[in-house]
Parts: sequence; structure tokens; C-alpha cells
Amino acid sequence: MTLDGHTLNDAEIRQLAIRLDRPVVLVGMMGVGKSTVGRKLATLLDLPFVDADDEIAEAAQLTIPEIFERFGEPYFRDGERRVIARLLEGGPSVIATGGGAFAQDDTRAMILERGLAVWLDSDVPTLIDRTSRKDNRPLLKGGEPRKILAELKAKRDPLYALAPVHVISGRGPHGDTVTLILGALAGCL
Ligand code: S3P
Repeated sequence: MTLDGHTLNDAEIRQLAIRLDRPVVLVGMMGVGKSTVGRKLATLLDLPFVDADDEIAEAAQLTIPEIFERFGEPYFRDGERRVIARLLEGGPSVIATGGGAFAQDDTRAMILERGLAVWLDSDVPTLIDRTSRKDNRPLLKGGEPRKILAELKAKRDPLYALAPVHVISGRGPHGDTVTLILGALAGCL
């Protein structure tokens, strides 16, 4: 269901895809489900899906934790900005970004100019649950994940709020979030 209670049918989803003239860029904290939701959204819209973190890892031939460990966060952010700049040039698609990308001024400005940013938002307990299932997030290694996630979210939320679309990614199935995004996109295109 969408926010106004209307679920888009197949024809409406096709129309929406036709109206999209830029990439849909999913932004938001680690653990909101950007990659899973993004893949499902792209399938429904029949658009390519790209995960910016996967592209960064592929370009560097290293995992994200290895990049952080060997070269540090500023180096990662630089690669992230360049990779996202390239992905934004690729025509309509769905792009999942890493949680910190939209908090970087240059990267955020590019996304706002050339993409359609969708902020996926979950509460801290949900983020804790979802991030605890994997051990691949360097920023959660330096202390208590609960505290780190709460602090990062408080710092980043005012920046994520600059995205024109805001969708809550609840504890339910990711498919529900996809439905909400489709409705929100239909309302703003
Ligand atoms: C980061 C989030 C990660 C990844 C990197 C930094 C962040 O992506 O880009 O570990 O700063 O929040 P996910 O949001 O996909 O976990």
C-alpha cells in the first residue's frame, strides 16, 4: 500500500518507469535495507540495479573493510564520490548508496542534482537488529554498535532529510517498503 492507500498496478508501474528520466538513488543509514529494497524496486521498474559499495569494491579489487583498513575513510569517500558520479551518468536506474555517501557534501550535491534521492529510514532498534547479522561494517567496529548507530543517525538525519522523498523502512518485509517507494515516486513525478 502507498501512503494514500493506493497500490500501483502493473500498468501504473510501467508508466512510472517511463516518466523516470534519472536514477532513483536510495540513501539512508546502514541497515535500512537499501540494497535488498533497491534490487526489488529495480526489478519491478524493469531498470538496472547498481550497488555503489559493490562498484567501489570492484574498482579497488578490495572489500569495503579492507579499503577502510588499508587506506582510511577519506580515501574511501573519495572513491565513493567518483563511483557515484559515474553511476549518475548512466541513465535511469536504481542506485543503492552506502550509508555515509549522502552525508558527504559533494556527493549529496551531485545526487540531488542528477538523481531522485529517496531516504529510507528505520528506527535505531531496527538498524541494530539488521546490522548485527553481518560483520562487514568498519564504522561499527570501533565501539558499541548501538551507540555508534544512534549517534550517526542523529548527525545524519538532517542531511538525509534533504532528499525529496522520505519512506519509512519498517520491520516488515522489504516488499512493503518497495510498495511505499513506488507510491511516493508516483506522487512526485
Ligand atoms: C557506511 C555504510 C556502508 C559502507 C561503509 C560506510 C557508512 O554501507 O558504505 O561501511 O558510513 O554508513 P551500507 O549503508 O550499505 O552498510
